[in-house]
Amino acid sequence: MSDISIAILPGSTREASVNRQLAKAFALALQAKGVSASVVEPADYPLAMYSGDDEANGNFPEKLDALAAELARHQAVILVSPEYNACTTPLLKNIIDWLSREKEHNVYERRIFALAAASPGGLGGIRCLSHLRDMMVSIGADTLTAQLAVSGAGQAFNDEGHLTAERPAAMMDAMCDKLIASAKRYA
Ligand SMILES: Cc1cc2nc3c(=O)[nH]c(=O)nc-3n(C[C@H](O)[C@H](O)[C@H](O)COP(=O)(O)O)c2cc1C
Repeated sequence: MSDISIAILPGSTREASVNRQLAKAFALALQAKGVSASVVEPADYPLAMYSGDDEANGNFPEKLDALAAELARHQAVILVSPEYNACTTPLLKNIIDWLSREKEHNVYERRIFALAAASPGGLGGIRCLSHLRDMMVSIGADTLTAQLAVSGAGQAFNDEGHLTAERPAAMMDAMCDKLIASAKRYA
């Protein structure tokens, strides 16, 4: 087993979410490489929509600290985002925003982030990744150059949860290798 671990955070809580499926496929691919990897489900960390008044009054969401602590345990975090109108989801944006206001764990420091998307459509959600990348770079988060957008995601996974579409699977494999190498810098 490697000395690093990787969290994978999908930007959807939907039962049949293709992005939750892609998150699971990343976990399987990383585990096959001997790396500890786990999916962090946003449904386990419900956060109210960000409010400046709540922050000013010290009313941080109850689960924010636990989510930050969970992500901060890992040397790398993969954000797996659905594309809503060419952008990321309100769910993931809200998580990113709240984490940027949480001061105890500094999730955006001392770890590497990677970006991926899945969509039933033909572009695989690639347009949302440029918005996500802009955000992460502006926050100052170390962000892996390699990224993955899985199109036709309804047919991209097998029953065991592996990504089977040939080209995306090869891209995921290469991306995992790069992410593992980068995460080791934070071990
Ligand atoms: C409000 C909304 C906007 C959407 N916009 C896009 C889009 O711009 N590009 C795209 O590929 N799919 C778009 N979709 C379809 C989503 O990719 C699809 O619903 C996907 O399954 C959502 O991700 P999930 O399965 O992980 O929940 C949109 C869906 C919704 C609800």
